[in-house]
Amino acid sequence: MSVLLAPSILSANLARLADEVARIEQAADWIHLDVMDGHFVPNLSFGAGTVRDLIAGTRLPADVHLMIEDPARWVRDYAEAGAMSVTFHVEAADDPLGCARAIAASGAQVGVALRPATPLAAVEPLLGVIDLLLIMTVEPGFGGQAFRADQVAKLAAARRLRGLRGERWRIEVDGGIGESTIGVAAAAGAQVFVAGSAVFGSTDPVDMLRRLRQAAQESAPPPT
Ligand code: DX5
Ligand code: ZN
Repeated sequence: MSVLLAPSILSANLARLADEVARIEQAADWIHLDVMDGHFVPNLSFGAGTVRDLIAGTRLPADVHLMIEDPARWVRDYAEAGAMSVTFHVEAADDPLGCARAIAASGAQVGVALRPATPLAAVEPLLGVIDLLLIMTVEPGFGGQAFRADQVAKLAAARRLRGLRGERWRIEVDGGIGESTIGVAAAAGAQVFVAGSAVFGSTDPVDMLRRLRQAAQESAPPPT
C-alpha cells in the first residue's frame, strides 16, 4: 500500500507560509490546507485567496479541508484555486450529495470528512461518488490535540466497508498523528496521513516525515 503524507500548515509559521511549504516539499506527497470559518469550528484560518497563492508556489498537490458552514457555496472557489481535492464536512452540508457532485463537476477530487461523533453511516449515501474519506481523530478546529484512539474502530470499519463495496476511495486520517500514533492508524487502514504539529513543531520536519513514512509503511495491512 502506498502511504501518502499530507503535512498541515496550520501549525506552521503563518507569516512565512511559502517558506514553510518549501521546507517540506521534498519529503511530502500532498500539502493539507485547513480552511476554517469561525462558525463550523471555533477558529479562523485562511480562505481561497491564500489557498490559490500557496498552490501557485508549490509542486505539491493541495488537499483542501473545508471546516466551514454551507460548503456547497464555496467549493467551486477552491477547485478553481487549483485544489487537487476539496473535502467538506458531511455535518455542515444541507445536501451532501449535491455538494459532492458540485466538487466533482468543478474538476477536483471529492472528499468528505467526519467529526469524531459522526457515524460512518452518515456518509454511506456518498460513497459511490467520493475519492477521499477523511476521518477526524480530533475535534476539528485546532492543531496540537491528542489522537482519539476511539476513532480507530471507525478507520477499520471504513476499510471493511470499502472492501465490501468494491470501491477505491482513499481513507485519510487527520488529528494527533505523530510517531506514536501513525502506526495504529495505518494498521487500521488509513492511507493518507495529515500531520500538523508533529511536522512543523519538529526541529527537522524532513526527517520527521521520513520517520512517519517508515512507521506507516511498517504497520500498513496488506492491500485488499
Ligand atoms: C484540525 C485540522 C488538522 C490539524 C492537525 O482541525 O483539520 O489538519 O492541522 O493538526 P495536528 O496534526 O497537530 O493534530
Ligand atoms: Zn485538516
